[in-house]
Amino acid sequence: MMQMCQPGPIFSLRSSAPDFRDLPWHLPVAAWPGVETRLEEVPCGLHRHPVLFVNQGGEIYAIKELPSGLAAQEDALLEQIQEMGLPGVQPMGHVSTHTQPRGPASVLITRYLDRSLPYRSLFLTSGLMRYREALLDSITGLLVQLHLAGVYWGDCSLSNLLFRRDDGALQAYLVDAETAEFHPGRLPPDRRLYDLEIMEDNIDGELSELLAEGTLAEGIPVSEIGAYIRLRYQRLWEEITREIIFHPDERYRIQERIRALNELGFSVGAVQLDESGGSDQVRLRVQVTDRNFHRRQLEGLTGITAEDHQAHKMMNEIQEIKAMLSYEHNRSTPLSAAAYHWMEHIYSPTVERLLSYAGSKITAPELYCQVLEHKWFLSERQQRDVGREAAAEDYLQQILLPPSQIANES
Ligand SMILES: Nc1ncnc2c1ncn2[C@@H]1O[C@H](COP(=O)(O)OP(=O)(O)O)[C@@H](O)[C@H]1O
Ligand SMILES: [Mg+2]
Repeated sequence: MMQMCQPGPIFSLRSSAPDFRDLPWHLPVAAWPGVETRLEEVPCGLHRHPVLFVNQGGEIYAIKELPSGLAAQEDALLEQIQEMGLPGVQPMGHVSTHTQPRGPASVLITRYLDRSLPYRSLFLTSGLMRYREALLDSITGLLVQLHLAGVYWGDCSLSNLLFRRDDGALQAYLVDAETAEFHPGRLPPDRRLYDLEIMEDNIDGELSELLAEGTLAEGIPVSEIGAYIRLRYQRLWEEITREIIFHPDERYRIQERIRALNELGFSVGAVQLDESGGSDQVRLRVQVTDRNFHRRQLEGLTGITAEDHQAHKMMNEIQEIKAMLSYEHNRSTPLSAAAYHWMEHIYSPTVERLLSYAGSKITAPELYCQVLEHKWFLSERQQRDVGREAAAEDYLQQILLPPSQIANES
């Protein structure tokens, strides 16, 4: 048989990416199982294209084969999403391939989003019932964040999302950006509405499928979930974009509005005041830029990278410490000094004590938030503040250490 000459793969990889050149690029991705030994089986949503997961030096990467040229486009969009601080999977690069009988194709490589839950486990297991509300909120929050940043998704579905635990709530991550478009500035209203329609259709379809399979947990109003997310989205959008009209004497309303938005996690960019409506009224419009307010504040002060709810909870503690130190020293303590105190005396000792027992399934910020939650639970039960150290110790003994190890530790 005559050997056909096949052009070799062309790699466009980030400098931080490992060397992927030794994968079997002469074969279509669908033919890798049985040939490539580093493939991993991990939970995965429904997909149209061949998707595999490969273990490269202990890290897992998702490999997706697309028609020629499309991987470069998706790669660029995912990169833009990362640069804008939006939650999405991290692209490592793309490869142009030419295989037989597949012909020319392109392959997208992303870092596997670990510690994430696919939606199936959230809808199938009754134990995760309490997360369902959080799941709807996280989808709403992600769509609002994308639209504020000018990103039209075009394929929001449960399969195209991954969920990470975030202090009792969930943070939704965008996985599949194949249909996404970036519109500089804010997204036009018709694109936003269209994105919501697609989301509703997709989610209704996915849940109906689970229902037909007989695998859906009981009591889920399948046909209402999509509409419910849309309603929540509309409420949140209205809340962050509405104008406020006040009397010129009530200038405190500006700070009040900014604080309320910050409290929801939104950062505020430009503030516009329009006094053309007459001497007794001022129109206030604030431009919301993103939903990373707490995350950015925490990272700036402490270097800790956390999810939104985690960061909010930790910033609240730092604010409390600021108030306490100011009171004790009888002078105003800067937030940076309170953050340093919190890191040195509170956060780091707790995490250092517990992290080695917690395994790789949990991040340090999530572990810390769980200890705070545990402290609250113990304090409620004992009707007094049990203190952080006692809560951390109890958390270690009751939650982290399996029964066999408790004997060794004590
Ligand atoms: N980087 C990643 N981390 C974790 N899971 C991923 C990643 N990339 C893809 N997946 C999983 O693979 C599935 C299919 O990927 P996707 O990009 O949606 O492919 P398709 O375009 O064929 O729909 C997703 O539902 C998700 O479960
Ligand atoms: Mg997909």
